[in-house]
Amino acid sequence: MSETIRTLSFDEVVDRLLRLKVPYHQNYLAMYSSWYGGIITDPALMMVPIDDHLVHRGDGIFEAFKCLNGNLYMLDRHLDRMEQSIKAPALSLPLSRETLVQTILETVRRAGAPDCLVRLFVSRGPGGFSTSPYECPSSQLYIVVTALHMPRPEKYEEGVTLLTSSIPTKSEYFAKIKSCNYLPNVLMKKEAEDAGVDFTVSLDAFGHLAEGSTENVGIVSRTGEFLVPKFHRILRGTTISRLMELVAPLVASGDLTRVEETDITPEQAYDAAEIMMFGTTFDVLPVVRYDDHVIGDGRPGPCFRKFLALMHEDMRSGRDVLTPVGR
Ligand SMILES: Cc1ncc(COP(=O)(O)O)c(C=O)c1O
Repeated sequence: MSETIRTLSFDEVVDRLLRLKVPYHQNYLAMYSSWYGGIITDPALMMVPIDDHLVHRGDGIFEAFKCLNGNLYMLDRHLDRMEQSIKAPALSLPLSRETLVQTILETVRRAGAPDCLVRLFVSRGPGGFSTSPYECPSSQLYIVVTALHMPRPEKYEEGVTLLTSSIPTKSEYFAKIKSCNYLPNVLMKKEAEDAGVDFTVSLDAFGHLAEGSTENVGIVSRTGEFLVPKFHRILRGTTISRLMELVAPLVASGDLTRVEETDITPEQAYDAAEIMMFGTTFDVLPVVRYDDHVIGDGRPGPCFRKFLALMHEDMRSGRDVLTPVGR
């Protein structure tokens, strides 16, 4: 055995990495790494040191936001949430918010794609392999820009399916931090794929609707109330939060009777006129089946169409977008 496993030289490793070709790398467009001190565009080199506590302890937080037609949408909201996430684990951002924004814009510009997804990680940093955060001299920042894959048009036209998750929810304290401890979220996604549904939704300790793996859920009752689960037990999504603002005028116009954060039971959701999922990548999707129940008339409803149109209009309006220079 000792004969067959060689000790590789630095050059041999670099050479192997540069020759490594895997199909999914074509989606990886650019990465900024504070550890490397710059931006790289070769996917084979997009790596994080294994002694960064992000890797072996999940000691880090992340954010994900998108760039559409060259415009970063709701960047400020995402960075506000990132600042909230780093508070509880007492992580520090290794650069000012202003420099961070410039670094994001430059990484997106180098990615060279008008539509892309940006993931930002603030890690505890390299420093050893224990759980102690104090062995890490400095936090690191990694920004990864990948191709944006939207759901197929049928998902918007025909709707998506939802199942109640059997994975226990995170406690209130951890659910509100967008940390890199996403094992429950991973298992919810696996659960959905294994069951052949689009999404699963967890229930909190009181049996109320909580959230999806990486998305929020909301319902429109038969009396026109737009109801969303209370945010003190789940991650406050930027998409659903923006939509709650955008749809507020629909109460005045009579399209909705109220917009509210409240406890929602699965039975209330089964009986809803509409159920929707909300998330950064896809914006809004209509749920037409939840567990064994057909929702509404089994077709995407009128509120879904209005909500999606409002989001698209918001993105086009340029109210909450930032454009990388040099496009
Ligand atoms: C657990 C969880 N809930 C909800 C969301 C939706 O948030 P947003 O609308 O900001 O994408 C996410 C996003 O990744 C998430 O991870």
